[in-house]
Amino acid sequence: MSLDQMFDVTGKSVIVTGAAYGLGRAYAEIMAERGAKVTLIDNNAQALAATVAAIGPQATGVLLDVTDRAALAAAFDQAAARQGGVDVVFANAGVDAGPGFLTPDGARNPDGQIDALDDAHWDKVIAINLTSVYDTMKLAARHMKAQGRGGSIIATSSIAAFYVDGIVGTPYMPAKAGVSHLVKQLAMELGRFNIRVNAICPGPFITNIAGGRMANVEDRQAFVRWSCLRRVAETDEIKPLALYLASNASSYVTGSQMVIDGGLILRPAPELD
Ligand SMILES: NC(=O)c1ccc[n+]([C@@H]2O[C@H](COP(=O)([O-])OP(=O)(O)OC[C@H]3O[C@@H](n4cnc5c(N)ncnc54)[C@H](O)[C@@H]3O)[C@@H](O)[C@H]2O)c1
Repeated sequence: MSLDQMFDVTGKSVIVTGAAYGLGRAYAEIMAERGAKVTLIDNNAQALAATVAAIGPQATGVLLDVTDRAALAAAFDQAAARQGGVDVVFANAGVDAGPGFLTPDGARNPDGQIDALDDAHWDKVIAINLTSVYDTMKLAARHMKAQGRGGSIIATSSIAAFYVDGIVGTPYMPAKAGVSHLVKQLAMELGRFNIRVNAICPGPFITNIAGGRMANVEDRQAFVRWSCLRRVAETDEIKPLALYLASNASSYVTGSQMVIDGGLILRPAPELD
């Protein structure tokens, strides 16, 4: 098989959640560029319309909140009818978790302390970053099993699944650890149906998350310092990995946690006060 054939996704039916901005947009772009049909799901109407228009006729936008189970299930049914089934699903939608217990300078941050956390905030982060990933993967499995032609499910986890960090909001950590563990559990269950389940675990990418803080040179200094490559990443840099996991190039890869972080996770643990 040639390299082109291994990475071929022509005609595949793809669904991406959280696709209007950032990493989700990059996943949708590379899939469409390589000839797949892509349904982009997002709750930001304006950004979704702009992204769908930029990608072109292979893209369809569906406006919904991923915590709305019924709407998500209907979107999967409609995408399957429109695109000829479901082959590749990116469970990607996510939000930041607000302030951590430390500021980037290492000072204590009153708003991020565990005893001050707003319970509604915890519930929201878990609902979007963990429970909606479960719902998305469940729908993907249901469609893929019924079709009987295998498939690839890819969750956007984070290096936050493997380490603890004071400047990222506390609810984010268990949500991403949960996503990464769910990926392993489902890979074990779904392997016999040739449904592969993998996690992409990014480090700092310049996206819209946390009010686009990675785009701000000042705000991203802590992450630049900790990265072996001394920089944060552009969203285009996620595309080759997304194409690899979506295509037959990764035919023997399942249950994996693909770290793409400029070596940030290797940094020594920060000192605590
Ligand atoms: N950017 C990073 O540095 C980084 C690092 C590790 C992991 N991640 C993860 O990558 C994923 C994508 O984040 P991003 O950085 O591209 O952020 P982003 O804010 O640029 O994009 C997230 C998209 O998800 C959409 N979204 C948010 N909540 C939604 C909801 N309830 N229903 C439907 N759509 C919703 C937003 O409108 C947006 O278009 C997230 O799961 C995030 O945790 C990002």
